[in-house]
Amino acid sequence: MEDLIAKAADLLARARNAIALTGAGISTESGIPDFRSPGGLWERVDPAEFSIDRFLQNPGRFWRIHLDMKRSGDFDLASAKPNPAHFALARMEELEILKCVITQNVDNLHQRAGSTEVVEFHGNLLRAACMKCRSLEPIEDVEERLLQGTEETPRCKKCGGVVKPDAVFFGEAIPSKAMAVSQVQTQRCDVLLVVGSSLQVFPAAQIPITAKMKSPAAKVVEINRDPSALHREVTDILLLGSAGEILQRLLRAVEDRIADRML
Ligand code: APR
Repeated sequence: MEDLIAKAADLLARARNAIALTGAGISTESGIPDFRSPGGLWERVDPAEFSIDRFLQNPGRFWRIHLDMKRSGDFDLASAKPNPAHFALARMEELEILKCVITQNVDNLHQRAGSTEVVEFHGNLLRAACMKCRSLEPIEDVEERLLQGTEETPRCKKCGGVVKPDAVFFGEAIPSKAMAVSQVQTQRCDVLLVVGSSLQVFPAAQIPITAKMKSPAAKVVEINRDPSALHREVTDILLLGSAGEILQRLLRAVEDRIADRML
């Protein structure tokens, strides 16, 4: 592993446009379950509950499931804290090594760790959005109205439209700005870090494929507890293990290379 980390650190220290694509696996060490590992969320909740069609059939039912998951601690994002993996990526941005993080996660932990260039590919579950006028409000405000029993189906305070968590549901389009920015960043990148993703969900999983197919191809460093579905096609350096531990070691190795350059 040490020699692989050294190779990955060499790539990052020399990179002109390194970016990261992160998935739920970067947040498991913050206490948020991922989806497809043993014990992951999809073992406890039917993913179909998170399809836009199911939501539109009965929004109030979804919001009750949402509250149950929060109460059970299954998916309580508000109390989660960034872990060393998030802080390591934020530090790499500070060192001007990492140009942006494209995240599939909706937990806001990259921003709370200090990353500023964050593309929320699947939205953000700490916000709620009106499906009619698109106005946003903190999701706690909606949860409050539900808990007070004043609303069966949360309504927008401005226009009365149906309110939905501002995360991308299955069957919904990726927010256009997030899609556009991630396409530009992917085309421009020379190193792509993939951290904590099984790469089973498109179009996010298209990012490493595009990074490899473009010319010149980017180098892909994958940090995962289990190899992703695409590691044979896209991964140049596969670092298996804890994202927190590996990213801290990788950051130290990159900082050593930067310090040596200063000498
Ligand atoms: N360190 C490193 N890797 C980890 C860790 C960890 N501590 N914990 C889990 N992993 C890895 C798993 O081995 C797996 O490869 O993270 C990956 C998580 O995969 P998924 O659960 O499929 O999560 P993700 O790839 O983000 O899912 C993509 O699917 O359900 C939708 O919208 C949802 O954004 C999500 C998308």
